[in-house]
Amino acid sequence: MNKLTISSSQQAIDIEHKYGAHNYHPLPVVLSRGEGVHLWDVEGKRYYDFLSAYSAVNQGHCHPKIVNALVQQAQQLNLTSRAFYNDKLGVAEQYICETFGYDKSLFMNSGAEAVETAIKLARKWGYMKKGIAPHNAEIAVVDHNFHGRTTGIISFSTDPDSTHGFGPYMPGYKVIPYNDIDALEQTLQENPNTCAFMVEPIQGEAGVVVPDEGYLAKAQALCKQYNVLLITDEIQTGIARTGKLLASYYDDVKADILVLGKALSGGVLPVSCVLANDDIMLCIQPGEHGSTFGGNPMAAAVAIAALEVVKEENLVENAHRLGEVFRERMNQLKAKRPELVTLVRGRGLLNAIVIEPTDDERTAWDVCVALMEKGLLAKPTHGDIIRFAPPLVITEEQLHECCDIIEEVILNF
Ligand SMILES: Cc1ncc(COP(=O)(O)O)c(C=O)c1O
Repeated sequence: MNKLTISSSQQAIDIEHKYGAHNYHPLPVVLSRGEGVHLWDVEGKRYYDFLSAYSAVNQGHCHPKIVNALVQQAQQLNLTSRAFYNDKLGVAEQYICETFGYDKSLFMNSGAEAVETAIKLARKWGYMKKGIAPHNAEIAVVDHNFHGRTTGIISFSTDPDSTHGFGPYMPGYKVIPYNDIDALEQTLQENPNTCAFMVEPIQGEAGVVVPDEGYLAKAQALCKQYNVLLITDEIQTGIARTGKLLASYYDDVKADILVLGKALSGGVLPVSCVLANDDIMLCIQPGEHGSTFGGNPMAAAVAIAALEVVKEENLVENAHRLGEVFRERMNQLKAKRPELVTLVRGRGLLNAIVIEPTDDERTAWDVCVALMEKGLLAKPTHGDIIRFAPPLVITEEQLHECCDIIEEVILNF
């Protein structure tokens, strides 16, 4: 047997375990193919994907238009770095600026890199435009946030798994409670050195935590009042996932700095982007920030195709409509097993249910294993929460089929 060929799921699990770092705890399924809402394992079993690679695959697996854009560009030009211009980046920049209504865009690769970019941009603005004394800029963030894994970003995480053993932590952040507008007002009042408030419109990794209606709009009003930038991290909630192009649109909010990633490439490549108007974006000058791969021609071509698919296939409307169908089905299920399913929440096709551990200590993990056995892939988070986030190209018929699977598992659990 060729050493580089995998012939069984167990073999793949074993070599990952032996040669890979143990920084994830995956469900025991080994995937080798994807198309639309489906994934197939090494043995050929088909699954519905209800994670979408943490909402990166909103357009469905291996979307032909996005893959075609990648292949065409891969044969033409891959990487020049930003030392030179390329003939794709400007087109993508114009397209994304016009789509989201900003003057300027700055492409990066991973979500964490884009968040770091937004932080640098906000600090620079704080010193140059707000007149904060050097090294004193502060950024307000909220508890249970998730913005990525760099040493800078984990400095303001409240999750011990993310922070423990990774110090020292970077100063310059103030953590306040999420969904607490009074706490925001107090911190902005107390600290005139605050340059930005950074927030997820819905907290994805925290377990799909939806704030009160109007929270983001009130936060924006306070930011304006105190001359503080509002940064929305829509890496997980953006690009149609919650039933609007951006989750902030539920509150009619357009942030000063918008951070996108994940589905910006439909999962085909790591592509992220920061958007802002000139008075903010032009605070960064040549040589002050960059990335070898950020804004490469393949990422640019893929991002345009991925955003076009969202528009052409009405994914915003689909996520909005099917989200309501899904929550209705889940609420019916909760009414049948209220002692097991204690909460259903979400917007569009970003949803979660909370599972109460059983008397014999079976948890959300065991529910996910049972779902996997029935052909549906979802991942538990924080022990008792299961996030359900299928690709947005799912049809109503497929969604009902998936709800039937979830119902069967929960009713027999
Ligand atoms: C809201 C949010 N911000 C940032 C990130 C980090 O993105 P990446 O894993 O691409 O660095 C994530 C990833 O889950 C996220 O959900």
